[in-house]
Amino acid sequence: MPDIRNIVILTGAGISAESGIDTFRGGGGLWEQHRVEDVATPEAFERDPNLVLRFYDMRRAAIQEKLPNPAHDALARLDRAWNGDLLIVTQNVDDLHERAGASRVLHMHGEHLNAWCTYCDERSRWTGPLADRPPCPRCGARALRPDVVWFGEMPYRMEEIYAAMRTAHLFVSIGTSGAVYPAAGFVRDARSLGAQTLELNLERSQGSSWFDETRLGSASEVVPAWVEEVLAG
Ligand code: APR
Repeated sequence: MPDIRNIVILTGAGISAESGIDTFRGGGGLWEQHRVEDVATPEAFERDPNLVLRFYDMRRAAIQEKLPNPAHDALARLDRAWNGDLLIVTQNVDDLHERAGASRVLHMHGEHLNAWCTYCDERSRWTGPLADRPPCPRCGARALRPDVVWFGEMPYRMEEIYAAMRTAHLFVSIGTSGAVYPAAGFVRDARSLGAQTLELNLERSQGSSWFDETRLGSASEVVPAWVEEVLAG
């Protein structure tokens, strides 16, 4: 493997599947009995805020009962051991990468354990429910929403992601279907910037043909094996 110093890793719902967190497009496109469009859009929140808040309250509570799996643990090991640049860009809103011990993590679709005040723009760590419209810890307004990027909203920290891609020697995509942009386009950006590209997935993603290499299998198996290979140089 030529000299790999800087790595960008993109993770999707597939890396958390074995921790017991449903993927979005696995079980017939229903997201815990709700169509994603009915709960994960600003229009849905406008139309029925209680439905949306209750849905996210349920997921926030469920996530806190889940544990990282060997794939999260392996990426945390790599993060701790890797002397070069390394960035884990996750589309997931769970905190399993962090609970496994990873620190160089960027949540481009937000974080389930944050509440966002639509009045004063403050983001607060939040582990409880929002459906009972609690006051914002900073301004007191009862205007908190999940700090999750909904369809039609801009993903977070895109500049930082593209800056990391510009110096990456290796781009690895783990457990994502390649169905949602801009994340689905990162592999093409990485290739055009000269990086090697690797996909680790249970099944081939929609962008599979853009990868130099694809390794199929469950994340808890293929990710630790890949990390050991990288750390062994
Ligand atoms: N190991 C590895 N990969 C897995 C596993 C597993 N055990 N189980 C499922 N997968 C893979 C599937 O093959 C698929 O490629 O996880 C991916 C799940 O795809 P999606 O459900 O579309 O999840 P994701 O790609 O993260 O969705 C992207 O869409 O709904 C929005 O904002 C949401 O961040 C999400 C984005």
